Amino acid sequence: MAILEQKIQPELATFANDILEGLTATPKFLPSRYFYDEKGDKLFQQIMELPEYYLTRTEFKILQENKELVLHEMDGQAFDLVELGAGDGYKTKILLRYFLSQKADFQYMPIDISANVLDALSRELHNAWPTLKVEPVEGEYFSALGKIDQLSNRKKLVLFLGSNIGNMTTARAVSFLSQLRGKLRVGDKLLIGFDRKKDPATILAAYNDAQGVTKAFNLNLLHRINKSFDADFDVSSFMHYPTYNPLTGDTKSYLVSTKSQDVQLGLLDKTIHFDAWEAIDMELSKKYDEHSMEWLAQASGFEVVSQLTDDQQYFTDAIWKAI
Ligand code: AVJ
Repeated sequence: MAILEQKIQPELATFANDILEGLTATPKFLPSRYFYDEKGDKLFQQIMELPEYYLTRTEFKILQENKELVLHEMDGQAFDLVELGAGDGYKTKILLRYFLSQKADFQYMPIDISANVLDALSRELHNAWPTLKVEPVEGEYFSALGKIDQLSNRKKLVLFLGSNIGNMTTARAVSFLSQLRGKLRVGDKLLIGFDRKKDPATILAAYNDAQGVTKAFNLNLLHRINKSFDADFDVSSFMHYPTYNPLTGDTKSYLVSTKSQDVQLGLLDKTIHFDAWEAIDMELSKKYDEHSMEWLAQASGFEVVSQLTDDQQYFTDAIWKAI
């Protein structure tokens, strides 16, 4: 892409290629990992506080009520608490606080691709708990796990919270978790959050909130493309349309063009045509049941050790053991 390279900064080139790939595909799609720019991070913070978005507060409660059990899984041995995606640590702090209070022998190793995120988190944790050992690892998940393996031979507890696994298709989830398994040793543990199948109306409401924050979260990616590539998406002519398939658990968000229109991607020298009612596939947030969680563990080289859930069985934090 010679033209691209001349006009686009290198860090934008991957984004540009992914956007072009998605918008020229049939059907069109945009990768949801690009939701999280500065504005997107703020919108996601707002989503987590919405009355309809039960996921975060449910997982918070599960961890709060099962922190003893989680620590018990480490059998009193020294361990590394490795977290995939540092985030703001809102849920992780429940475990950190408890592990410290029990004088557990562990260090916290958050993995994130953003050095800024890691710096902010380390500083904050250091201020809150000066005795907590924090060893941030910058990088992509699997290369970071490789680095950790060279740094320490302690037992690992890996956290993959928040139903982030839901953003992957079954095939990608198996490949991701098998790769993760490959970076672990027999007996290491994974604490992984799954959003569960439930009343379809409850699920749909979580992705179609009354205040329109989730809609803004999806539309923000079009704004981001406008800003990054001097594009002219008429954002008001796209409708937010979430669906839930109770057979597969697939919860999908689409943006639907309400009219026939052309969008110019200025910096990319590209025009994208939308037919009236043509959709962009924006996000998958897959929901699981007992059977599909169990199947996924086995398909990726893990054994289910325990399934922590809430009163309403809305969410499960599963503890898996590498076998
Ligand atoms: C952060 C991927 C777990 O899929 O529920 C929230 C993102 N999308 N509302 C999810 C999201 C729309 C969220 N995850």
